Amino acid sequence: MPDMAHVGNRWSRHRRAEGGHRAKQGGRVGRSGWRGAHNAHASQPAGKSLETWEVPCEEVRNSDATLQLRSGIQMPRFGLGTWQSQRGGECKRAVAEALRAGYRLIDTAQAYGNEVDVGQALREARLHRNEVFIVTKLNSREHGGSHAAAALKTSLSRLQLDYVDLFLIHSPRGGFLLETWDSLIELRNAGLTRAVGVSNFGAQQLMSLQQAGRELPEVNQIELHCFWQQRETESLCNELGIALMAYSPLARGSLFGATPLAQLAQEKACSEAALCIRWAFQKGFIVIPKSVNPQRILANIAALRGPGLTPREMQGHADALGRGSQQGETRDYTWKPPPSHD
Ligand SMILES: NC(=O)c1ccc[n+]([C@@H]2O[C@H](COP(=O)([O-])OP(=O)(O)OC[C@H]3O[C@@H](n4cnc5c(N)ncnc54)[C@H](OP(=O)(O)O)[C@@H]3O)[C@@H](O)[C@H]2O)c1
Repeated sequence: MPDMAHVGNRWSRHRRAEGGHRAKQGGRVGRSGWRGAHNAHASQPAGKSLETWEVPCEEVRNSDATLQLRSGIQMPRFGLGTWQSQRGGECKRAVAEALRAGYRLIDTAQAYGNEVDVGQALREARLHRNEVFIVTKLNSREHGGSHAAAALKTSLSRLQLDYVDLFLIHSPRGGFLLETWDSLIELRNAGLTRAVGVSNFGAQQLMSLQQAGRELPEVNQIELHCFWQQRETESLCNELGIALMAYSPLARGSLFGATPLAQLAQEKACSEAALCIRWAFQKGFIVIPKSVNPQRILANIAALRGPGLTPREMQGHADALGRGSQQGETRDYTWKPPPSHD
């Protein structure tokens, strides 16, 4: 496990190197970010630009790599997923362990019921607010009217934060997409979230925002792993400048041992989970594996520090798994949204 002094030094170095950037962002948020605390903002480390989709493996050894969103915000490329991390302790322990291990992005959602745990772990970690990037998502029951604003304020209270870093529409399933999207933009303009995005949006929903003349999301969080590569959505998001956040990057562990990835893992003397993480990271996605197991929390971040997949392995092996899934050899368990109500 990396010791915290090292992690702290690394972040301090980045902050010194990048002094100017957050001054602009800080103007809009204008607060400490921790509820009731009074720390000054500092800047975040520089990252890869959104255009850099295929990342050479020698450049991705650092788990603190970031990606620059369209607005200039630096977003960590790796973080902890918390879906099914149970409230009341399990989720709090997982987030605390992850923060100790060097994770700087935590992905939660109103629907997960664990924002209170995330908030407690953050508070107890005693990190500077701008050293962590917190993502939460609007519950599909809260679309339309002024529901989004009330729901985000409730999330902030549960998380003990003054703002989140990224607020996503969890799914288009809740309908009223234009109205809800407009609410998210207003919340961002009011400083309650630094960036806004969507999740589970396909081409149809993304294009409907564009055709309505709306500002496009900065991030689309969708199911993405080497077994389910969603190449059409990937290329549309690349074209529109929307960063892709890969959820279920381990395919929930359900395919381990059942595909040619097992052979590649054996050849490379690593785990299939590590290869899944490397594949998604080297594709340029933001990767958020979930674990509540301390060893696996450490192993998952360590996957970014070991040797990567060579271009040949990326194209010849891992990409082939995706071709398999499109031929129906593996299950497509991606939730398909119904047509939008707008
Ligand atoms: N926007 C959305 O609609 C949406 C949907 C799904 C997920 N997400 C987000 O994406 C995150 C990740 O996706 P996910 O939770 O569906 O699945 P995942 O990260 O692909 O897989 C998690 C499963 O793999 C196990 N695991 C973790 N590390 C492992 C390792 N090194 N070796 C073997 N097994 C390992 C975990 O068990 P242990 O916990 O016991 O380690 C858990 O059962 C979620 O937690 C959530 O934050 C978003």
